[in-house]
Amino acid sequence: MAAHLSRRVFLFVLLYVILQGKCETRKSYTAAVYEHAVFSLPPSEIKNKSVALSVMKQNLEVFEKATAEARKMGAEIIVFPEDGLYGFEFTREIFQYFTEDIPDPQTQPDWNPCKKYPESANSPVQYWLSCMALNNSIYIVANVGDVKYCNLKSDKLCPADGRYQYNTNVVYDPEGKLVARYHKQNLFMTEKLNYNQPHQCEYATFTTPFGKFGTFTCFDVLFREPPISLVENFGVDNVVFPTAWMDVLPLFASVEFHQAWAMGMGVNFLTANLHKTSFHMYGSGIFTPQGAVVYTHNTTTEQGRLLVAQVPILRNAPTKTAPYSNRPLPTEKDGQTTIRFQAELFADSFDFVTLSRPNDSLTICQKAVCCHLNYSFDESPADSLYALGAFDGLHTHEGHYYLQICTLLSCANSSTSSCGQPTTNAKSRFGNLSLGGVFNTKYIFPEFLTTDGSSLDLANGQWVFEDDVTGVLIVDFFPFIYDALSSFGIRDTGVYAIGKEQQSPDLSLIQASGFYWIMDERYN
Ligand SMILES: *[C@@H]1O[C@H](CO)[C@@H](O)[C@H](O)[C@H]1NC(C)=O
Ligand SMILES: *[C@@H]1O[C@H](CO)[C@@H](O)[C@H](O)[C@H]1NC(C)=O
Ligand SMILES: *[C@@H]1O[C@H](CO)[C@@H](O)[C@H](O)[C@H]1NC(C)=O
Ligand SMILES: *[C@@H]1O[C@H](CO)[C@@H](O)[C@H](O)[C@H]1NC(C)=O
Ligand SMILES: *[C@@H]1O[C@H](CO)[C@@H](O)[C@H](O)[C@H]1NC(C)=O
Ligand SMILES: *[C@@H]1O[C@H](CO)[C@@H](O)[C@H](O)[C@H]1NC(C)=O
Ligand SMILES: *[C@@H]1O[C@H](CO)[C@@H](O)[C@H](O)[C@H]1NC(C)=O
Repeated sequence: MAAHLSRRVFLFVLLYVILQGKCETRKSYTAAVYEHAVFSLPPSEIKNKSVALSVMKQNLEVFEKATAEARKMGAEIIVFPEDGLYGFEFTREIFQYFTEDIPDPQTQPDWNPCKKYPESANSPVQYWLSCMALNNSIYIVANVGDVKYCNLKSDKLCPADGRYQYNTNVVYDPEGKLVARYHKQNLFMTEKLNYNQPHQCEYATFTTPFGKFGTFTCFDVLFREPPISLVENFGVDNVVFPTAWMDVLPLFASVEFHQAWAMGMGVNFLTANLHKTSFHMYGSGIFTPQGAVVYTHNTTTEQGRLLVAQVPILRNAPTKTAPYSNRPLPTEKDGQTTIRFQAELFADSFDFVTLSRPNDSLTICQKAVCCHLNYSFDESPADSLYALGAFDGLHTHEGHYYLQICTLLSCANSSTSSCGQPTTNAKSRFGNLSLGGVFNTKYIFPEFLTTDGSSLDLANGQWVFEDDVTGVLIVDFFPFIYDALSSFGIRDTGVYAIGKEQQSPDLSLIQASGFYWIMDERYN
């Protein structure tokens, strides 16, 4: 009896140890994003649904290869870009050929096109995606077209052509089941002609063994709804983000902006972009609250690219980190000897001061925003010009959104009128630099962009940032890589200079910025 009992206890203890061990070892998961060079046809050739389907099948074949490859590398989830199955530049009439009627997983929770084939025969794309997920036992995130036919008599909002068309993200789980469907809320420019905005903003989430996920699309990331609410009110700590993102330098290059969002919100952010160099569409990555784990930003190739990486499972709900120091807030000093001027950045009028000395301490303010910079140059050629700028106002070019920005940037040439113009030209090497800003918000997103002379580089591991709820941002740049920077918790201690100093790569700063935005025309 006693032997029996102790064996049972032993088994119990053994089981407990195994379970514990299992739980404790799972600190990360493997994610994949695929930057896709989409195959598309000119609108004039898309005459009917069967042509549209043949276009989508060509792209699905590429998706399928990428999925199998990702799975081989251990990926548990893969994200494909916005418009990845057909491209863009269609009319509303042509786009309808790409759509399928996709059910709402909230009201139809067990829809599994792959397992219930004849019933899903009218949704060949959904069938294909569902089977890809099931065959490879992986979560699949794709961007597709959803159509909902409506009755002009009974539905006053029904569009004149009798149907709603949505730019839609779908998520299939490893069993092939549809677990999330999201209709894009914030349509960009001419997208409004092709798609309808949902009557109410949708908050699409799904729960996996490795975190709670939310999804939204491209232009959405500039808005409060749904992105910030997903994180703050729905407990989302991972976001999957199909996008067709056009780079606009200096502040809106895909990877710098998406990294800033991950870091500013404290979540994992898996971004998959279309690859179309003629539209400046490139740049995808796997970002964590500590920055990019892996990213691509290749402006010269015409090929797609698969990225696979380990991502930490975030155990705690994302929180804004507390500041570890209380540096004095900058105010604008009188008698600065540097040149003060105004110049345009993406059609916004910034106040700037130039960095005209080998080292200095500078301040520039505009309305409620004040920016402060301490810097020293290691090397600064005579034809190189940098400026520190501030902006506080409503941005109205290609969309309306309210911005507060502090930026240190490389001017396009040696004339002050070029400061803020898009450039990848940067020649100076900084010693330490420390950029601080005061904003009247807790949502501050840090950006850092450098170049090695040929391609853009996020300089991960060479800078840190801190922010706090009082709206102060400090970005500190160190010209050397310290091992300690890669270890989590660095921001809690404020200690940078532990660990081994390494040779720094030859990077020049294009821009460092902290900024905040909220897409709301009613603001002010
Ligand atoms: C669709 O259009 C293509 C190209 O014009 C044509 O060859 C094909 O017969 C059409 N198919 C149907 C089902 O109408
Ligand atoms: C799924 O696997 C089945 C059986 O191997 C295969 O016939 C089918 O083509 C696969 N489908 C997809 C979409 O991967
Ligand atoms: C871009 O991709 C091409 C083709 O794969 C490769 O040869 C080139 O080195 C890449 N460039 C960068 C900057 O990664
Ligand atoms: C800063 O620049 C001045 C010249 O403007 C120079 O005398 C001084 O040594 C520099 N200080 C540092 C710390 O580099
Ligand atoms: C510098 O850039 C500005 C604005 O981009 C341009 O108007 C000007 O001609 C350029 N000057 C030189 C010397 O290249
Ligand atoms: C840069 O910062 C580090 C760490 O605070 C410090 O040890 C070093 O002296 C600074 N270097 C310069 C040139 O200011
Ligand atoms: C710049 O240096 C001054 C004097 O050491 C300090 O008070 C200030 O907080 C520094 N600013 C930043 C942004 O680090």
